[in-house]
Amino acid sequence: MDKLFIISFLGLLTVVHAVAGSVVYNNIGMLEELERFEIDEENGVELSDTPSWTSERGRRVLVNVDSFGAVADGVSDHTQAFVKAWQTACATPKSVFLVPPGRRYLVNATKFKGPCEDGLIIQIDGTIIAPDEPKNWDPNLPRLWLDFSKLNGVLFQGNGLIDGSGRKWWKSSCKKNKSNPCREAPTALTIDSSSSVTVRDLTIQNSQQMHFVISRCSSVRVSDVLVSAPEDSPNTDGIHITESTNVILQGCKIGTGDDCISIVNGSSGIKMKRIYCGPGHGVSIGSLGKDNSTGIVTKVVLDTAFLKETANGLRIKTWQGGNGYVRGIRFENVKVEDVANPIIIDQFYCDSPKACKNQTSAVKISEIVYRNVTGTTKSAMAMKFACSDTVPCSNIVLSNINLEKKDGTVETYCNSAQGFGYGVVHPSANCLTSQDKHYFGVGVTDIAEDYDTDQTEIAELAESSSEAIVHTEL
Ligand SMILES: *[C@@H]1O[C@H](CO)[C@@H](O)[C@H](O)[C@H]1NC(C)=O
Ligand SMILES: *[C@@H]1O[C@H](CO)[C@@H](O)[C@H](O)[C@H]1NC(C)=O
Ligand SMILES: *[C@@H]1O[C@H](CO)[C@@H](O)[C@H](O)[C@H]1NC(C)=O
Ligand SMILES: *[C@@H]1O[C@H](CO)[C@@H](O)[C@H](O)[C@H]1NC(C)=O
Ligand SMILES: *[C@@H]1O[C@H](CO)[C@@H](O)[C@H](O)[C@H]1NC(C)=O
Ligand SMILES: *[C@@H]1O[C@H](CO)[C@@H](O)[C@H](O)[C@H]1NC(C)=O
Repeated sequence: MDKLFIISFLGLLTVVHAVAGSVVYNNIGMLEELERFEIDEENGVELSDTPSWTSERGRRVLVNVDSFGAVADGVSDHTQAFVKAWQTACATPKSVFLVPPGRRYLVNATKFKGPCEDGLIIQIDGTIIAPDEPKNWDPNLPRLWLDFSKLNGVLFQGNGLIDGSGRKWWKSSCKKNKSNPCREAPTALTIDSSSSVTVRDLTIQNSQQMHFVISRCSSVRVSDVLVSAPEDSPNTDGIHITESTNVILQGCKIGTGDDCISIVNGSSGIKMKRIYCGPGHGVSIGSLGKDNSTGIVTKVVLDTAFLKETANGLRIKTWQGGNGYVRGIRFENVKVEDVANPIIIDQFYCDSPKACKNQTSAVKISEIVYRNVTGTTKSAMAMKFACSDTVPCSNIVLSNINLEKKDGTVETYCNSAQGFGYGVVHPSANCLTSQDKHYFGVGVTDIAEDYDTDQTEIAELAESSSEAIVHTEL
């Protein structure tokens, strides 16, 4: 079985050389490039001046929100104290904007704007809570609660809690009650138009809508952040990345009522490592292409994740009628437990009260690698590649997939999806079509015939090429 595969793999490589310059070569080349794509976890984010709270504490200027009139009773409005403290901290080099531990602060929708002096640390040790009444929300800031923008080289840290008090917002959502108007709700924490940002250890919970949005940023590292909201809270994505590049999320534990992580338009170079997700809707790329828009997402890696009891696992979702592309995505070392759609590409995504019509244009999806994805599925359809009839998915690669259902059989669904599997692939993905079947077919036959003449040679080649496969880890 293994040898058969190796031979066909060799055949594939031979053909690649034979038809160099053709589509086949380009596609494999791109897959290899994807394979090599790594974001250096240690040095991925360059901080212009790595602020370190502990070692340099003495030389830092503490700007405590309490010094600006914040009486932390959790009832009075502390917005003004936060705004004044921010103005001071932002204008002071090497300062620490401090939200002290053991206290609760009620803060209204607020913009914390940069640029600031170098070396700013935002130290959140206490609890920041949002006013819970949607009716009192500033209509000029419908999508924002704590909004940080135009920062460069800042560190957010602390064991504090950011609590969106979202219950009334969820109740007033049109997802909860169809007679409610569909309107936007605030994001708990936004970091916008910033670069070289580190966020660590914070907990964000019960957001009005999305919990943590990273928008228009470059070089962001988020580690050991916890996000939590009830499973039935609507649209409460955990971490949402849009129009951002070079973002690393690591060691994050997320459980919400929507996507644990969602990555949308204009994002590239996103690495997620050691992610726990559940409950929630899984790790998603998209949605993209809504209302005929252009969506582009490239180079995304999820490595080492555990998804438990989520409604989807690894998902790419696009609307009919969009443009653009999703290219160069790798999901690897993922364990799922009781996940409804562990592996899913859905080009017919339609999250609207009205049914969506099929259209001829779609966001093109290609070079998607799934490797070492195992565990249990809740639905029989463990893998679903529902691709557009007019814009097929291409180069979907599956390797070492083992998805089981506790009580029954599992299957793979394909529509207009091209790709291949190797190693263990269960359920089998035979429904993936090979765009280059003709070339591959000829190559495999040629190779097989050559080998027939010398059995030892086959064995040797099998040995060496199996090593080669391990090394190249296609
Ligand atoms: C927050 O802002 C709104 C609108 O500007 C205002 O009505 C409200 O009193 C403020 N404070 C709190 C705690 O909601
Ligand atoms: C839905 O909202 C309408 C109008 O606000 C209200 O009358 C109705 O009781 C709500 N239904 C539920 C199930 O909450
Ligand atoms: C998608 O992102 C690109 C690049 O950031 C931007 O120019 C474009 O306007 C975005 N499209 C939509 C629909 O937001
Ligand atoms: C998207 O394009 C289709 C086909 O051209 C058109 O029928 C539809 O109205 C467009 N939708 C929007 C929201 O612009
Ligand atoms: C496969 O993924 C699981 C779950 O993350 C991990 O524990 C295991 O070490 C991986 N196996 C290999 C061969 O990398
Ligand atoms: C859209 O196309 C897909 C794939 O051919 C098909 O399964 C689905 O039923 C179509 N949907 C509509 C609304 O026509």
